[in-house]
Amino acid sequence: MDKLLIAGGVPLAGEIAISGAKNAALPLMCAALLTPEPVTLTNVPELNDIATMLKLLAQMGVKVEKVGAGGTAGGEGMALTLDASGLNQPLAPYELVKKMRASVLVLGPLVARYGEARVSLPGGCAIGARPVDQHIKGLAAMGAEIGIEQGYVHARAAKLKGARLFTDMVTVTGTENLMMAACLAAGETVIENAAREPEVVDLAHCLISMGARISGAGTDVIRIQGVERLHGTTHRIMPDRIETGTYLCAAAATGGSVRLTHTSASYLDAVIDKLMDAGCEIALEREAIRLKAPKRATAVSIRTAPYPAFPTDMQAQFMALNCVAEGTATIRETIFENRFMHAVELARLGADIKIDGNMAIVTGKPRLTGATVMATDLRASASLVIAGLAAEGETLVDRIYHLDRGYERMEEKLAALGARIRRVK
Ligand code: UD1
Repeated sequence: MDKLLIAGGVPLAGEIAISGAKNAALPLMCAALLTPEPVTLTNVPELNDIATMLKLLAQMGVKVEKVGAGGTAGGEGMALTLDASGLNQPLAPYELVKKMRASVLVLGPLVARYGEARVSLPGGCAIGARPVDQHIKGLAAMGAEIGIEQGYVHARAAKLKGARLFTDMVTVTGTENLMMAACLAAGETVIENAAREPEVVDLAHCLISMGARISGAGTDVIRIQGVERLHGTTHRIMPDRIETGTYLCAAAATGGSVRLTHTSASYLDAVIDKLMDAGCEIALEREAIRLKAPKRATAVSIRTAPYPAFPTDMQAQFMALNCVAEGTATIRETIFENRFMHAVELARLGADIKIDGNMAIVTGKPRLTGATVMATDLRASASLVIAGLAAEGETLVDRIYHLDRGYERMEEKLAALGARIRRVK
């Protein structure tokens, strides 16, 4: 299993390009199931989660063609053409769903276009129970016959019917699944309490360019007028706001100065705000962000909540930043019930963190010291890398397959910013 070896204490400096967003790419790939015509996606990040999704789609009879070279430091990701004209196997098996929960995003498109889907229930994961009951409830309200059989959600509908849907909580993939399904349903669907995440908006833009009639994406009420069929399109995937935030945080924690290109601050207000509170100078360009950190950042309290509030996917990275900042701060996690697994690993580097339910109290230390730590999930892994970069001495981050799921060539990008980091087998 690969590990990352980091010799910490170097302020990050320089410029790197941000990749296309994983959490936009995954639903967009599933949108290709909605049409028999080819859908081309550009700026696709080369990640293990993308490879898992490609495997899943290929298994269903989708033809996949990689039409562009993979991303380079220049920042133009790969291009993929997905052709679902031969879709013949509406199944997402447990082996793939357990690897990647976002596999559930095939459910809505399959029922809508193929009339049937069998998708394994994902089960629990490192950060909490994460059920998919809202996806199921929504499809049932649209007239799907839906039940659980042998660990699989089995859904059938000759033709989905538009409906008024209300989700009990804000769910990102739930909103995406139901929005995709509604595109081919008969009549109007209204999704209330919809997720407002930029990735939902990116998906809506692509669906609209495929002929879907959607309004309100980016607000908490999305209206979809069903159409008979969708056609092919070409769509460029938005920049990864979480990758952007992660490198900004890494620069802040190391007292560095970086410029991130191929990205935009427009999806990152809550994160940028906190980095400024931490004492960082930020300059925004049209498609780039510059950050200059103070020698030592000031601790900042955060509370995670659905977009546009502070993202749960940036919580662990800010915990790492607070570990080396001046002062004490609180971190409240309101989205997932078990998302502080990184705290005990950060403590191995000398961090002072107390956990009280869904709140962590972090008191910054002038210095952390390197140690061997183990990654438990994607963003937790990123927080350990940030802490390792800021710590004195060597940090070995084990189980980095989590990082490879969601960060494109992380060690290369960090090395380009001057970090002493290498992958060891
Ligand atoms: C997406 C993101 C993930 C991010 C999360 C929250 C993708 C591929 N992943 O995950 O990176 O951390 O949003 O911003 O986009 N819930 C239910 N029942 C449901 C659905 C959700 O109880 O049917 C709960 C979840 O357990 C969680 C909360 O609702 O507590 C929000 O989850 P959700 O927004 O659905 O997360 P994902 O879409 O899985």
